[in-house]
Amino acid sequence: MNFSLSEEHLMVRKAARDFAQTELRPGVIERDTIQEFPDNLVKKMGALGFMGIMVDPKYGGSGMDSISYVLIMEELSKIDASASVIVSVNNSLVCYGIEAYGSESQKEKYLTKLATGEYIGAFCLSEPEAGSDATSQQTTAVDKGDHYVINGTKNWITSGGRSDVYIVIAQTDRSKGSKGINAFIVEKGTAGFEIGPKEDKLGIRGSDTHTLQFNDIKVPKENRLGPDGFGFKFAMKTLSGGRIGIAAQALGIASGAYELARAYSKQRKAFGTEICNHQAIAFKLADMATDIEAARHMVMKAAWEKDQGISYDTSSAMAKLFASKVAMEHTVEAVQIHGGNGFVKDYHVERLMRDAKITQIYEGTSEIQKMVISRAILKD
Ligand code: CAA
Repeated sequence: MNFSLSEEHLMVRKAARDFAQTELRPGVIERDTIQEFPDNLVKKMGALGFMGIMVDPKYGGSGMDSISYVLIMEELSKIDASASVIVSVNNSLVCYGIEAYGSESQKEKYLTKLATGEYIGAFCLSEPEAGSDATSQQTTAVDKGDHYVINGTKNWITSGGRSDVYIVIAQTDRSKGSKGINAFIVEKGTAGFEIGPKEDKLGIRGSDTHTLQFNDIKVPKENRLGPDGFGFKFAMKTLSGGRIGIAAQALGIASGAYELARAYSKQRKAFGTEICNHQAIAFKLADMATDIEAARHMVMKAAWEKDQGISYDTSSAMAKLFASKVAMEHTVEAVQIHGGNGFVKDYHVERLMRDAKITQIYEGTSEIQKMVISRAILKD
């Protein structure tokens, strides 16, 4: 078993680290404060290949593996989890969904632009009454021969106001349960597609989260992803990979907070010495470093399984469950180590603490991850 990263992986990680430090860091506090979407930075991430990391170069992607994806996600998330969730949804849910299950013409038309960052993608599954219980879709897609007519409301959609392409999950035949659900590619500007108000959030405030309304929108049949009734499996399969991305985001938030707390503890003095010399602080740092290392192994293992073509449904759920717990617990500790300074924006850790919470909620709450894991471990 080889735990070392290849030269290519080290280069990719360095590129992401440099970008995060030089480009994301300078405006991150202001973007969080005023809830500003990082338009220009998304373009720059597109130019660096971060918007289509795993996409085949023949569709404009970077052709990298999932290990590279999680390395990039960790580095971006250490500094700016708002930027990294845009990257994660675009890569894991939208690009992967279209590349793995889309038709050749869908790939030509949409993936080539999504993979380069020319287009941004959103994934629309959650509804007012169907967030965790994803089979209870109230949004309907009625088959009208050469097109579908979609009606309904989607909630908490990441990049909801800024996307060009929306993957929308909707119910076509309720009597068939999960097999009556379809997934569609919907373009921005389709008649009857309304973008509701932007959410005012606790964390990831630089990302753009909206409610979306579909009023009798017409979607051509060729925009359905996969065969009739494949929509629920499509959502589950893409979310399994998405959970690796969010686990890597949680890992980045935790490791970013740890690095700040470690550096602070080595220069802040109390009771005649740097605070890292007090066991109360040193032991906190030891716990943080240990949990973060464990989370990193889990994230890497899930990514490695995906690259090997091994089933990663359970490992991605475990990685997300654990990494998001580590992110929440240790960002709180990072604030504590900073004392009063931790409670003000300039020191960054309060933002990381607020950002950590969403990693326990989106792409399946921690309770959903436990459902996925417990079903897998109890099935025989
Ligand atoms: N791969 C393939 N098929 C799968 C699957 C997977 N990972 N998981 C389930 N399925 C299949 C099942 O095999 C089953 O098929 P059969 O009937 O042929 O056996 C079918 O799908 C239904 O499965 P379940 O009976 O297990 O469905 P369920 O209703 O019990 O729900 C669940 C399972 C895991 C709880 C699911 O509803 C779920 O994951 N919910 C959470 C959804 C979620 O993550 N929402 C977040 C929104 S997206 C987001 O946050 C994006 C963003 O903007 C950041």
